[in-house]
Amino acid sequence: APSRIIFSGVQPTGVPHLGNYLGAFRPWVRLQNERSKNDILNFSIVDYHALTVPQNPELLWKWNLETYSALLAVGLDPKISRIFFQSRASYVPGSVNVAGHTELMWILSTLASTGYLSRMTQWKSKLNLPEDASLHDSSAKSALKLGLFSYPVLQAADVLLYNATHVPIGEDQQQHIEFARTLANSFNHTYGQKFFQIPQAMISPAKRIMSLTDPTKKMSKSDPNPNSRILITDNEETIHRKFRTALTDSQEGISYDLENRPGVSNLLDILRHVRNEEVPIQELAAEFKNSSLRSLKESVAGAVAKALEEVRENYLRLCSKGSPRQSEMNRSLFVAKLTASRTMQAVKETIGL
Ligand code: ADP
Ligand code: NA
Repeated sequence: APSRIIFSGVQPTGVPHLGNYLGAFRPWVRLQNERSKNDILNFSIVDYHALTVPQNPELLWKWNLETYSALLAVGLDPKISRIFFQSRASYVPGSVNVAGHTELMWILSTLASTGYLSRMTQWKSKLNLPEDASLHDSSAKSALKLGLFSYPVLQAADVLLYNATHVPIGEDQQQHIEFARTLANSFNHTYGQKFFQIPQAMISPAKRIMSLTDPTKKMSKSDPNPNSRILITDNEETIHRKFRTALTDSQEGISYDLENRPGVSNLLDILRHVRNEEVPIQELAAEFKNSSLRSLKESVAGAVAKALEEVRENYLRLCSKGSPRQSEMNRSLFVAKLTASRTMQAVKETIGL
């Protein structure tokens, strides 16, 4: 039996950024490279999730392919890891889908509590509503679509469809895994058997990377300000420019203080992650005690540019080739689809369909 079944996903909603790289892609590559013989790794480009906010169809398709290229560029190997789109079994638009994701979502949604879903924070943050917003607020009622509200159920289906035991996630996703565990337990309870394994979260050790222009928000593909994030396509000059204009504060010297100096602290966190260091963050801050903000920004920019250089080159090369390597991709998709359809067959038998 496999020792671990890993599942994680990325939305094809734009060019990946430094937060995606440090918080997800690099840890995924590490899992792949340090895997034990029986580990199974699944990495999905979750295009159904992308639809929870409005998308341009042509861009969505382009980003689907480019996100695939990004996963190869950072070092995932489709001969080892299963890399596949959530919505379909081949990269030809509109081709046969991996139907299990949406099918299982429907079945799980019959067990999902709307009260639990309404307490989750993602729909509120995607609609720019306050954390204590309620379903009954008029602003929520008009803007909140069923898909955005229920997408944690789709996330649970993604994970359970592959019998995942381990789900690498950022800390922002912790409540969704808790919810997936609840749904798995509730399915097992309802149908009187240990059907689903209860997946566990592997919380990324990396701190969340924050926006460069507003360090109280996370760095995100969906931020309208392009200077808020470092893209994996940014060249050295662009990286330096973005860090130079990063929002910090007017206090003198360098110190790590998340509460009062979120901008400076974010720069130090980024530097620590990029250097791959185990040193305590306060020690790193002390190293820059007598430096100017300007020189800290230069150091961070230089380290980031160096860390992303190879990824950037790989990514641009793969994207310019147009479509991904079909044979490798189809093999990945084939095994993923097979696992998914086996799960669905068993689910249906269990519930009497
Ligand atoms: P985004 O929010 O930028 O659209 P996704 O939702 O596609 O990113 O997330 C893909 C992966 O990247 C997830 O594992 C998520 O936890 C991680 N991630 C996204 N943003 C950050 C960030 N700012 N810092 C650390 N990890 C992040
Ligand atoms: Na997101």
